[in-house]
Amino acid sequence: MRIIVAKDYEGMCVNGANLIAAQILLKPDCVLGLATGSTPCGIYDRLAGKYQAGELDFSAVRSVNLDEYVGLSPENDQSYRYFMQKNLFSRVNIRPENTHVPDGLAADIEAECQRYEALIAGYGYPDLQLLGIGLNGHIGFNEPEDQFPVATHRVALTESTIAANSRFFENPAEVPRAAITMGIGSIMRAKRVLLAISGENKKEIARAALCGPVTPQVPASILQLHPDVTVILDAAAAALL
Ligand code: F6R
Repeated sequence: MRIIVAKDYEGMCVNGANLIAAQILLKPDCVLGLATGSTPCGIYDRLAGKYQAGELDFSAVRSVNLDEYVGLSPENDQSYRYFMQKNLFSRVNIRPENTHVPDGLAADIEAECQRYEALIAGYGYPDLQLLGIGLNGHIGFNEPEDQFPVATHRVALTESTIAANSRFFENPAEVPRAAITMGIGSIMRAKRVLLAISGENKKEIARAALCGPVTPQVPASILQLHPDVTVILDAAAAALL
């Protein structure tokens, strides 16, 4: 595991974008595993900047996203498909048909999970998987549990997550109750993993995930067993390492 500590969020994003850009230069038709959330926004900004400066070509890149809410359409501004369109896909020359996010509107969610896992497997799993980490150590929507979930699956969101999300919705009935997420097994099959951690509030979980025991109670801790992981942190998140 390589650990890079940057001075601040900006520095972390510069490092993260450089590593992803290097992956695309190395293999122009690479498969990128992508994440949503606040952490990668600055990384996506810099990748878009490199494309606009003519330094990067996404025309052959394929992408698979980690997760999506059940019941939200791509047009819903809380959906992860919407997030990806806004923050990255619409700003670079990636082909729409090469971008994949689980279909939260699928009539049969179990079948959608199987289709998505087969799609990732058909791609040979990501060449590089970008991850953020939740305050409880989750990666994707893989929450602390008694065992590591293996393949893409449906997750029932906890009451606290539903309550936290409700601020983004006018109508409480619209707040998603479930999500589809790649499993820990799907994530661990990526050839390389790039875990980005930012902020003072992540310092405890950063230490638990990177230095503590490998346990499904801290899902990100399994990354200690992956042969090619780079962790980029800002100084605030690295304070307890
Ligand atoms: C997002 C995802 C989540 C986030 C995590 C951290 O697709 O899978 O695991 O990476 O919740 O979110 P932020 O970056 O908002 O702190």
